[in-house]
Amino acid sequence: MTSTAHGKVILLGEHAVVFGADALAASLSPGVECIARPSPGGTVLAVAPWGVSFRPDDGSELGRAVGDLCAAMGVRDAALALTLHLPGGGGLGSSAAMGVACARALAEMHGRTLRDDELLAFALGWEKVFHGNPSGVDHTLAALGGIGLFNRATGLRRVPMRGALRLCIGDSGERASTREMVHRVARLRERLPAATDQTIESIGAVARDGALALQEGDAKSLGNFMNLNQNLLAALLVSNERLEDLCAAARAAGALGAKLTGAGGGGCVIALAPGREDDVLAAWRAAGVDGRVVEVGR
Ligand code: MEV
Repeated sequence: MTSTAHGKVILLGEHAVVFGADALAASLSPGVECIARPSPGGTVLAVAPWGVSFRPDDGSELGRAVGDLCAAMGVRDAALALTLHLPGGGGLGSSAAMGVACARALAEMHGRTLRDDELLAFALGWEKVFHGNPSGVDHTLAALGGIGLFNRATGLRRVPMRGALRLCIGDSGERASTREMVHRVARLRERLPAATDQTIESIGAVARDGALALQEGDAKSLGNFMNLNQNLLAALLVSNERLEDLCAAARAAGALGAKLTGAGGGGCVIALAPGREDDVLAAWRAAGVDGRVVEVGR
């Protein structure tokens, strides 16, 4: 049987969530699919769209992650075949989704179903390989799906919504390491603690108020909070010129709000543009970006 996991979109609150603030996040599907089979030739992880395989001792982070996961789950010698429906390293939670799908597939191979707390613990171990201090928002959404406020101390609180949330997503095509971007904010906080803590606190407040706006179906306020959050992320030094240009192009095309999503430094931007989605996609196309419209939080 195929095991699955969701991708995710952070609507409000990335980076601040690492330091204990709330973030508003939603799952994105399809994310990742995985099938695991016993493998006499040793553990191997094949990632379909890349045409690449990873082994525990090949020196790669994915190889190490799959080796650590098998060890933690007490599994020997599995062949895992992953199909990824998300851009790798684009801020849409591909690495966490891979971890969740692999853990589910390994459990399935042994006829087990993991409890949520077991699955989340295995996925956290996987995420730690890629960056030392994950907040947990990515793998929690990958495992549980839906839409809600996430806090690393209290987990996911679901936000009840009327109908689906439609977003435009565009991939800047640039890539930055999540580990490096998280370090960048930590270094800024060491250098400028008062201002950085203030920014982090403001982002948490924006995420909480954004959740209220979402719950009430107030798209205009939610869009305003996305724009405000983008400015606060720029103050944390995780935006760049390309991301700012794509956000500005989306707003000029009628979006109520636009921001980077995920670790920044590259990756994807999101825009909230009810009824103007085609205009946003056209503006991004003119800037060389192929965007798409998605429904998140299902
Ligand atoms: C990455 O998708 C989100 C960050 O906030 C890191 C984390 O929460 O672990 C940048």
